[in-house]
Parts: sequence; structure tokens; C-alpha cells
Amino acid sequence: MILAIETSCDDTCAAIVEPGGRRALSNVVHTQTEHERYGGVVPEVASRAHLERMDGVIEKSLEDADVSLYDISRVAVTARPGLIGALLVGVAAAKGIAYARKLPLVPVNHLEGHVAAAYLAKPELEPPFVALIASGGHTAIYSVERDHSMTLLGETLDDAAGEALDKGARMLGLGFPGGPAISNAAENGDPGKYEFPVGLKNKKNLDFSFSGLKTSLLYKLKAMDGETVRGELPHLAASYEAAVVEALTRKLLRAADMRDASSLVVAGGVAANGLLRRRLGEECGKLGVSLVIPSPDLCTDNAAMIGAAAARTPAIEYPEYLSLNARSV
Ligand code: KG4
Ligand code: ZN
Repeated sequence: MILAIETSCDDTCAAIVEPGGRRALSNVVHTQTEHERYGGVVPEVASRAHLERMDGVIEKSLEDADVSLYDISRVAVTARPGLIGALLVGVAAAKGIAYARKLPLVPVNHLEGHVAAAYLAKPELEPPFVALIASGGHTAIYSVERDHSMTLLGETLDDAAGEALDKGARMLGLGFPGGPAISNAAENGDPGKYEFPVGLKNKKNLDFSFSGLKTSLLYKLKAMDGETVRGELPHLAASYEAAVVEALTRKLLRAADMRDASSLVVAGGVAANGLLRRRLGEECGKLGVSLVIPSPDLCTDNAAMIGAAAARTPAIEYPEYLSLNARSV
């Protein structure tokens, strides 16, 4: 069994994953609520909260899977990219457990982890496929090759899709994280009522831009009084959400077309978005392209996806990994 640990941002996570990386026996996520009052993740607060929660979360992952540390043959941990102080907590915990039991350690790239969530969602999935990762820190399209290597096809030139939703939600006075907050507010809204720019819409490349969207919302809000904003909130939220979803859908379908892909994967926190899931489901259905979007709990940060990626990543043997360092990028 693989014990996987993930602490790259504001979720303290541990999971037990089968050696093939296609089934998780447990997946424990402690989402830090400490950041809500700041409207965004505070790195130092995140590191301290990981430190407090790490042991309890690991213990629960073993308990939920009904295994003990003696059943673990490899320890996997997110080593990059992420908040450096947050990553270090997970890396130190992983090193400690692996060293004490003389086990190999697998350093995992968080983005490869998000993609690997697709193998848990659909165990028979095999590359090649085209993958969109849309999270709070990244928005990029990759071609995943038969040997599991990833080639970058396009990425955001400024904000990530999740960041655009988080910033938009903050401007609208909604909660954090912004993605689910905007979706809830948008429930009875008309997505066609306000026009927001879809960045790089007509550019033939596979890059994204979300900064114009945020500015456009700022100007719309400046032109309204508080009462109007409150009344228009569902329509503003729905129109803003639709612009983010449109940008992601367009570029992913363009990538599928350019690469002649028959299989698509969507991952990262924003892939939990209901509208994006529906839109892509419809479009892929029409095109006859297979679409894998993991369940929302496997899209947002979790350790099961890190265990799944570890099954495809070379391990560092005991005790070589003591010099392993976390990296923010
Ligand atoms: O992958 P993730 O959990 O953490 C990072 O690696 O960044 O992604 C977090 C991002 C946040 O920006 C959050 O607003 C967004 O994912 N998100 C959503 C939803 N759930 C989380 N965005 C849209 N709809 C959702 N349901
Ligand atoms: Zn993530």
C-alpha cells in the first residue's frame, strides 16, 4: 500500500492507495477554515495548521483503510509546486515515516497528482489523452503521452481560473473559496444578462487569460449602487461563472481538435464546477469524445490523487531522500 500525503496549500490530506494507483482505500481531507476571515489563504497560517493536523489526518487515513503502518510499502508526498512552508510540513512528515520504517519515498508533482485523479475515477483509463488542469494556482492544458509524460500545450498568461473565481467572489462580497460561492449565488441567475470578456477567445493558441474578466467586473460594480448589486447578484455571478466556463470549454475542445484526441481529462478544483461538467459533458457527447472528470472530492486537493500519481513516479530509495527539498514552483 502507498501512504500519500498532500499539504501544498490549505488542505491537510492523507490517503491509502493500492500499489497500482487505481483505487484508494481511504482519502482524508482536513480543509483549514482559518483562512475564511482573510478571504484568501495566508501561507504562514496554513503551515501552522498543517503542523497541528498532520498526525491526526495520517492516523485517520490508516484507520479508515483498516491498515497499519506495517502494511505500507511506500510513502508518497507532494514535493512541488505549492506554498513552500506548507509543502515542508508534508515532506518532513513523509521523510520521518519513510525513514523510520526504511521505506522508499516518492516525491510527487501536485499537477501530475491532479491528472492522476482520473485513474481513480476510471481505473481502466490509459494515456494518451489531453488534460485540462484548472485550480486555484494553475490553469493549463497538457498532452499526456503513452509513457505518462506530460507536454504543456497552453496555459494562463495571468490569473488561474480558480483565482479569477476567488477574486470575483471577493468583489461580489461572497465567501471563500470563491468557486463554490459563485456557483451557489448563480443558481437562479441569468448567465446571459451581463457580458464578460472571454480572454483570448479568438486566438488560435491554447493559452488563457482571466485578468480582463476581473477588471470588467470591477467596472460593472463601480457603476452600480449597493442595492442594485444585491439585486443583480445572481445574474452577475451567473454571467461571471459562464465566462470562466466558456474560456475553459473552448480551449479544451480546441486542444482536442488540434491533437485529434479521443479522450479528455479535466482535473483541479475548478473541475468540481457543475456548469463546466455539464457543458463539457454535452459537447463531448456530441463529438463522441470520451470525457473523464473525477468526482468533486477527487478534483479539489486530496492525497488519493498523490498516491495515484506515485504509482507512476520513480521512488527514491532509503535513505537518499533525506536531502529531498520541497519547491514552490
Ligand atoms: O485544486 P484546488 O483544490 O487547489 C489548488 O491546487 O489550487 O483548487 C482550488 C480552487 C479554488 O480557486 C476554488 O475556488 C476552486 O478551485 N473551486 C471551484 C469549485 N470548488 C473549488 N471552482 C468552481 N466550482 C467549484 N465547485
Ligand atoms: Zn490543487
